[in-house]
Amino acid sequence: MRIGVIGASGQLGSELCQQLGNAAVPWTRAAIDLTDHVALAPMLRDSGVDLVINTAAYNKVDLSEDEPELAFAVNAFGPRQLALACAELELPLMHVSTDYVFGQEVHRDRPWQETDAPGPVSAYGTSKLTGEYFVRSLCPQHYVVRTCGLYGHAARQGAGKGNFVETMLRLGREREELRIVNDQHCTPTSVRDLAAALIELAATEQFGLYHATNSGQTTWAELAAEVFSLEQMNTRVIPIPSAEYPTKARRPRYSVLSCTRLEEVLGRPLPSWQEALRRYLEERRTPENPSARSAT
Ligand SMILES: NC(=O)c1ccc[n+]([C@@H]2O[C@H](COP(=O)([O-])OP(=O)(O)OC[C@H]3O[C@@H](n4cnc5c(N)ncnc54)[C@H](OP(=O)(O)O)[C@@H]3O)[C@@H](O)[C@H]2O)c1
Repeated sequence: MRIGVIGASGQLGSELCQQLGNAAVPWTRAAIDLTDHVALAPMLRDSGVDLVINTAAYNKVDLSEDEPELAFAVNAFGPRQLALACAELELPLMHVSTDYVFGQEVHRDRPWQETDAPGPVSAYGTSKLTGEYFVRSLCPQHYVVRTCGLYGHAARQGAGKGNFVETMLRLGREREELRIVNDQHCTPTSVRDLAAALIELAATEQFGLYHATNSGQTTWAELAAEVFSLEQMNTRVIPIPSAEYPTKARRPRYSVLSCTRLEEVLGRPLPSWQEALRRYLEERRTPENPSARSAT
């Protein structure tokens, strides 16, 4: 099976290509630009792939408030065109989405299920939700997979916007204490574990909407504290409410995703977020490790 990966230089895309090896047909933005609707269908037709995974996105959450047209072009109308092309070619399409499709229910404290009604609170979240709807309505053979808080080694090469773990490692070296929000509950997820799950899911033909994250839940402040503890750094974390760290875009207070549907298909949960983080930091310390090779 040959799998076309759109967004191949991003965190998730590069990890997928690495795990797929010769089965991957990597498409960076130079090869497939989701906003170029004319080139998309011929490119897919000529490629001979058996399935397409779309990891590309306009991920700048705060900037999306100022440039919603760009967010919608990449996150909604690009996937729409992709879904139309895949449907015409009878190709299955796996499309990656986000926990930021939730957020309006501010007192939520139970993990979101695929059957729960979404309600984004940002332009980014709305653009991603629109992309989901296009894929689900236009391409019968679809997997739409929502995930959360991604980190992977490719971010160290400057792919995408970096990631929270790398930002903490950098800031932790520069400062003695950091004030980090402690009232946004979510599940940080290693692209290593997510990519493995996506590849397994892609072979099942059990199409539909899925949630896929590492197991458990935490907050950004707790995650930062865990990073510093595992790296034996003395940086102090001061937990603060979101109100003390205003951002252009609102974020969900609670966006933990229930992954039981995926667990039933795979027969296992993804590893805990703590285990995944420990592994990521270990790989980072030993760049000769093949797992971290893509970032060295
Ligand atoms: N990062 C997170 O914390 C997070 C959380 C939840 C869900 N997600 C979702 O997970 C998926 C993967 O995220 P990621 O962290 O791997 O993202 P990433 O590292 O930012 O990579 C995104 C890739 O998309 C490419 N791209 C941007 N605009 C494009 C366009 N018009 N046409 C084609 N490619 C384009 C970028 O190319 P360039 O390198 O050329 O810019 C980049 O390689 C996305 O769907 C995202 O919405 C991410």
